[in-house]
Amino acid sequence: MIASLRARDGSVSTQDLADLMARCADGAGDVTPPTREFLENLSNDEILLAFDGPTPVGVCAMKFTGGERVATLSFAGVHPDRRRAGLGRRLLMEAEGVAREKCFQALRTGSAVDSDNAAATGLLQQTGWKPVFGASLKMWRELDDLPDAKAPAGYRIRTYETGDDAAFVRIKNAAFMSENTGGRAWTSADFEREYLDSPYFDPKRVLFAICGDEPVGTTTAWTATHQGRDVGLIHWVAVVPEHRSKGLGWVLNVRALRKLKALGYGEAILNTSETLESAVRLYRRLGFEVILRRAVYEKPLMGGRSPSVISQI
Ligand SMILES: CC(C)(COP(=O)(O)OP(=O)(O)OC[C@H]1O[C@@H](n2cnc3c(N)ncnc32)[C@H](O)[C@@H]1OP(=O)(O)O)[C@@H](O)C(=O)NCCC(=O)NCCS
Repeated sequence: MIASLRARDGSVSTQDLADLMARCADGAGDVTPPTREFLENLSNDEILLAFDGPTPVGVCAMKFTGGERVATLSFAGVHPDRRRAGLGRRLLMEAEGVAREKCFQALRTGSAVDSDNAAATGLLQQTGWKPVFGASLKMWRELDDLPDAKAPAGYRIRTYETGDDAAFVRIKNAAFMSENTGGRAWTSADFEREYLDSPYFDPKRVLFAICGDEPVGTTTAWTATHQGRDVGLIHWVAVVPEHRSKGLGWVLNVRALRKLKALGYGEAILNTSETLESAVRLYRRLGFEVILRRAVYEKPLMGGRSPSVISQI
């Protein structure tokens, strides 16, 4: 069947668009269609549609604002009945052409794309899009055979004691600020909200590495839901820069994994970023494997193109 591609016109209402996007996103994991308010603020030339006769069956929504001359690909979707026929590829190529005509230097996905969305990652890779900024990673391991862990000479491990809030915040901020992860600094109020106020808080879940009397590293044997199951979560692993490379990350996390096992969890997950290379190496040594990558993708737009107002496949 022939499908034609063109920018949105008055024949397609916001409701039609919202319905098509919802149908496309249905069953596609974490993909969420843009809100109605977002759609109402898009101009017609920011929405490319693929039509079967009068019926829209594929859509690509872009936002032509943004610094560095980078346009945003807010949503791309093809009706489930019209997939694997080249429409997604066609829509993306047309979107790239339109962005190039408007002198944008790149198109970037508006949100991260999950590696388990095989169709989206397959399409993006096939059409020359590349992950940018370092992907966020979800790692997993079973809690069956856990190694032993002795604290290195000069250090000991203990659990949370009243008043450790300030030490936790100091260690977390020192550790993450030195990694340029872009997050804001924590205050004791953040610790209170995320830890002390949580129904899961138990001083024995929060571990510290101590040098002399000074806490210099921490990790938490926390809890999460993964694929509908309660699993252990290794949370906020942090060692201050002056005490790194001494094995504290290893011992803190082995102790936390042992704690999770003692609490009855059969598996553990953690969330990290590809940019934190030494942390990712440590987690792999600890037996974790990557089960999900989430990345923002970008397509550089070099050179010009002849406009194709209507194209057909
Ligand atoms: C992603 C999506 C737009 C692809 O649309 P489509 O019209 O089926 O894609 P195409 O037919 O143009 O496929 C182009 C290439 O993408 C890849 N691809 C598409 N679907 C795939 C799938 N299910 N599994 C693996 N690769 C896939 C293939 O490499 C394919 O080339 P090939 O058919 O020669 O092997 C569609 O699956 C969809 O709407 N998904 C839900 C919404 C979504 O995830 N949007 C995010 C996009 S950034």
